Amino acid sequence: MDIITVKDKSFRPYISEEDLQASVKKVASKINNDYKGSSPIFLGILNGSFMFFGDLLKSINLECTVSFVKLTSYEGTDSTGKVNELIGLKEDIEGKDVILIEDIVDTGNTLVKLHEILSKKNPKSIKIATLLYKPEAYKKDHSIDYVGIEIPNAFVLGYGLDYDGLGRNLSSIYVLNE
Ligand code: IMP
Repeated sequence: MDIITVKDKSFRPYISEEDLQASVKKVASKINNDYKGSSPIFLGILNGSFMFFGDLLKSINLECTVSFVKLTSYEGTDSTGKVNELIGLKEDIEGKDVILIEDIVDTGNTLVKLHEILSKKNPKSIKIATLLYKPEAYKKDHSIDYVGIEIPNAFVLGYGLDYDGLGRNLSSIYVLNE
């Protein structure tokens, strides 16, 4: 693998396809163990999770349903400013085991907001699986149940993750070359 240029920035190879696939399989096998006898719903958080989601689900041997959601944010009229809205959820999750699938957990803001919105729909449980996790950037207390790979606080690209909308189609992960 070589250094690549995406838009105006240069990125170097960081996590190989082999290493990614190995950690995806590890996460899948933990989930398979923990949810034996349950029929969970996997909720992929768009856009970034699509590749991890696809590979992960190929190794899940549970009876399950899958769906994708997106968290949008717009300027509110009250003092709190930003308002978040969850779009795309058509399934009734009441009484269900929900597993949220994230590409990366950085500050944790997305995860906490998703948790807040989904909790109101009375699921039996909500757990979070993320491919990548930046512990140095994480500012919340919420536990992250399944982590593929911990990385330092650097900007990464590929395997679903983008820089300005580009690079999501790369099959391995690159890091900003500074
Ligand atoms: P959080 O809400 O700060 O945890 O960040 C969540 C979102 O920020 C992720 O789902 C990504 O879309 C984006 N993000 C965070 N770090 C990176 C990165 O290193 N590369 C690309 N996107 C990132």
